[in-house]
Amino acid sequence: MAHTNGTVHTNGGELTATARAHSNIALAKYWGKRDAALNIPAVGSISITLDGLHTETTVSFRDDLSHDELWLNGSRHSDGHPAMRRAGIVLGLVRERAATDLHATVTSTNNFPTGAGLASSASGFAALAVAACAAAGLDESPRALSVLARRGSASAARSLFGGYAELHAGSAADGNDAFAEPLMGASEWPLSVVVAITDTGEKAVSSTEGMSATSATSPFYRSWVDSSGALLDRMRDAILAHDLPEVGELTEHSCLALHSLMFTTQPALIYWNAATMAAIHTVRELRAGGLPVYFTIDAGPQVKALCLPEDADAVAHALSAVPGVRQTRTTGLGPAAHILAAP
Ligand code: DP6
Repeated sequence: MAHTNGTVHTNGGELTATARAHSNIALAKYWGKRDAALNIPAVGSISITLDGLHTETTVSFRDDLSHDELWLNGSRHSDGHPAMRRAGIVLGLVRERAATDLHATVTSTNNFPTGAGLASSASGFAALAVAACAAAGLDESPRALSVLARRGSASAARSLFGGYAELHAGSAADGNDAFAEPLMGASEWPLSVVVAITDTGEKAVSSTEGMSATSATSPFYRSWVDSSGALLDRMRDAILAHDLPEVGELTEHSCLALHSLMFTTQPALIYWNAATMAAIHTVRELRAGGLPVYFTIDAGPQVKALCLPEDADAVAHALSAVPGVRQTRTTGLGPAAHILAAP
């Protein structure tokens, strides 16, 4: 559970807190919104939170600022940057709830490449929501924090929780039933993910822009939305049954359905490079050889391979040998977003 109270400290009028949130990858993917202004997803999604990839964010509300400032990995974001606009929405909601008009300095660092399809917006906005509420002295429930993080980035709603989490699309117009909740703890079924990094550059088209184009132009978008409920039901059941072959097959199906949507968007969204395709084939060859390993890919060229912890070294070894794979990172399942103690 995320805790937002207890560690807030004031320092000469400052209200400060630091949170860490872990990245997540969706096994059953989200793509498309039922309300763009409130950032409400059109479909539900199920993810795993990753131990090895995280964001740490400090939020300080200060009485000497006339606007919010955002520093990401040591560089200041300009006011017009999309991340700044979204951070402003989250901070504005926190100000409203805390009945304050103080602005904030937000300092955020990722321990992995930013904006490259490794879900930095998921960990980033989850950490922001938790740190901002704590800094403002708000004691929000995990569900309320999840709804707040969703306003920054929908996948961030899932990073509030550790292990396996499900984000509901909901049906309420205000989006208050579009929250994530924990499905199963990390320790109940520890799996590993080997991330094959093929390119660390930032993607040309953000997820937000990409999914907006898809919903407007892909002829497959309606079937994606219509078939999402059945896939989620099967994925949830397979996770609760610890059925890796079923979870893996559904994960690959959701990934390929997502990328089919992307390919059929006009203009086409092709996030893959040659190494992405080669890594897919390597995973399939490993599986044909008897190793239970399954791939998934988000809005970027990295391939994430899902496997048992005891097979992770063999999977990493095989993926490292794929031409174009620059590095691999192996991670287990991670914890919920949490406040870090003040230094
Ligand atoms: C392919 O959550 O980054 O990773 O809500 O517009 O910020 P916004 O999009 P975002 O999209 C994630 C897309 C995905 C699939 C997923 O994580 O479910």
